[in-house]
This record gives sequence, structure tokens and C-alpha cells, in this order.
Amino acid sequence: MFALTGHMVWGMVVGALLIIRFIVRTKSQKPPKADSGSRLLDYGAQAAHWGLYILVFAMVASGLGTALSADLFSITFGGNREPIPANLTQYAPRVAHGLIGKIMLILIVLHVAGWAFHQFVLRDGLISRLWFGKRHTE
Ligand code: HEM
Repeated sequence: MFALTGHMVWGMVVGALLIIRFIVRTKSQKPPKADSGSRLLDYGAQAAHWGLYILVFAMVASGLGTALSADLFSITFGGNREPIPANLTQYAPRVAHGLIGKIMLILIVLHVAGWAFHQFVLRDGLISRLWFGKRHTE
């Protein structure tokens, strides 16, 4: 019960951070697009980055959908003493939440593999683009 309450709170914090990240993204200067030397890999990297945004958003939305379908907010925050339903997979958003989580995990592994490719094969120091400071903009 406490673990689930914490999970829901942190999940919503992630949702709020995602919104802030989007606002910051629209207002910040962007460095030129990275070039891996392969058009296919460059498209793949772009798709992976957008995919991560979409999946995190979908994860938060399906988590909220699960909580609303099963009336979990009244149990975790509202003083409703009903037990949490034993099998939440009776709710479609819960099934989606589990599936999206697995797809997200695959994309995270691919993302780390992309970083390792730049870091150790291309040796182009791509990660430094994430740091603060002056940027060469597009
Ligand atoms: C990016 C944010 C989130 C991530 C990474 C995440 C991750 C997960 C994962 C990995 C599971 C277990 C899935 C499985 O075993 O099939 C889960 C279950 C669950 N999540 Fe989230 N979650 C997030 C956001 C949320 C939010 C915002 C809520 C609700 C406000 C929420 C509510 C739940 C619920 C109710 C369950 C089911 C627990 C159960 O079946 O006992 N999640 N979540």
C-alpha cells in the first residue's frame, strides 16, 4: 500500500518533470544534430529520442488511467479503507502500463548502446553536448 502510494507520487513527479523538460526544450538553443556517419543510425537515434518522450508520457498516462479506473486515489490518499483490488490487470490501462514499461526498457538499453557507440567507437564525445555552457547552435 505505502509502496504503491510512493510509486504513484513519483510517477506523477516524473510526469511534471516531463512537462517542465518540454517547456525548457522549446526555450533553449539546440546544438546541431549529431552525425554518426550513417543516415540510418541518425534517423534511428532521432526516433529513439522521440520514442522515449512518448513512452514516458504514455507510462504516466496509463498509470493515471489505472489509478482512476480502480479508484486508487481514494484508497491511497482519500481515507477509503477498501483493499486495493488484488488483480489490477482487469483494467486495460494496467495492461498497457505493463507493456509500455517493457518496451521502454528495451528502448533504454538501445539508448545506452547508442551512447556507448559514440563514446567508444566514434569517440566523438557526444555526451558533452548535454552539459551547460556555450553552444554552437543550429
Ligand atoms: C514514468 C512513470 C512510471 C513508471 C516508469 C512506472 C513503472 C511501473 C512498473 C514497471 C510497474 C509494474 C508493471 C508490471 O509489473 O507489469 C508499474 C505498476 C503500476 N503503476 Fe506505474 N509507473 C509510472 C507511473 C505511474 C503513475 C503516474 C501511476 C498512478 C498515478 C502509476 C500507477 C501504477 C499502478 C497502480 C501499478 C500496478 C501495481 C500492481 O499491479 O500492483 N504508475 N508501474
